[in-house]
Amino acid sequence: MGEFPPEAAAALTAAEAACGPLELKEISDRRGSAVWKAGGPRGAVSIKLGAGEAAEVTAREASVLDQLPEYTVTVGRFDGGVWYVTPWLAGPSTWDVFRPVRKGEGGRNEALEAAVGLCHAVAELHEAGWVHGDLQPQHGIHTENGVRLLDFAWSRQVGTTPWRRFDGTMIHLTAPELAARILNGSQPVDTTQTADVYALAGTLWTCVTGTWPLDYETAGIDADAPVEEKRRAIAHRAVPLSTAMPWPALQARLRHVLLAAPDDRPTAAELKTLVEAVDA
Ligand SMILES: Nc1ncnc2c1ncn2[C@@H]1O[C@H](COP(=O)(O)OP(=O)(O)O)[C@@H](O)[C@H]1O
Ligand SMILES: [Mg+2]
Repeated sequence: MGEFPPEAAAALTAAEAACGPLELKEISDRRGSAVWKAGGPRGAVSIKLGAGEAAEVTAREASVLDQLPEYTVTVGRFDGGVWYVTPWLAGPSTWDVFRPVRKGEGGRNEALEAAVGLCHAVAELHEAGWVHGDLQPQHGIHTENGVRLLDFAWSRQVGTTPWRRFDGTMIHLTAPELAARILNGSQPVDTTQTADVYALAGTLWTCVTGTWPLDYETAGIDADAPVEEKRRAIAHRAVPLSTAMPWPALQARLRHVLLAAPDDRPTAAELKTLVEAVDA
């Protein structure tokens, strides 16, 4: 567990203004980006700190939160980085909701409801003209007031490109055409709603099976092969889907999305309807 960086003390002042006297907990720290949960008598917030190359990414994410009506954000700079404070979203992630399903302990009704809620949240974001860009099992939080999305670092409004370079987010949930455009080398690459739908289906698949959708082993790719090697194989659609089928009725719909050409993929709203029709 690290120390909260003293140079970013202004973030604590902002958090304390919202919550009262704080208790701090480090949630994650990777690639220059750290998340802390800060809680007090009046509530809890998330503090995200981006240092070095992550500073620009964090500033961009704060600007996205500022533009989304359901979110609020306070943002500031410190020596070498950017911090922002946003309300803590209370509830399990999609990955958490599916845990009993993965263990074969039931919970399918709750999981289906969660899957529909996640599709709905993505559909609403898309209908408002946004692309998320980094949908993952941990990036949907199932709150009392519905599903809220997290981690908007690679989000953009359709028609704008707020970065000069995009090298991809979670490789295992990267749509083949997006992998191909990153490989192709011409930047900036845009994230897209159709690639979001691929990642959404892949997220649900992962939540059901506990493993990423693609079976690298069968494609002769080592599990810890470099990302570039996986990206090349994904771009060429050279990696088959995993054959683990614990929930065929749901997975058949997801499989259809994961194998479809980008233009043939359903929208997030259409995927929601497909998932609603699944029997628990
Ligand atoms: N506002 C929030 N409410 C609840 N949990 C959060 C919030 N922000 C971040 N988290 C938690 O911290 C984790 C990391 O945050 P994220 O924004 O995904 O950062 P990273 O860029 O490091 O992936 C999330 O998966 C989630 O568990
Ligand atoms: Mg994340």
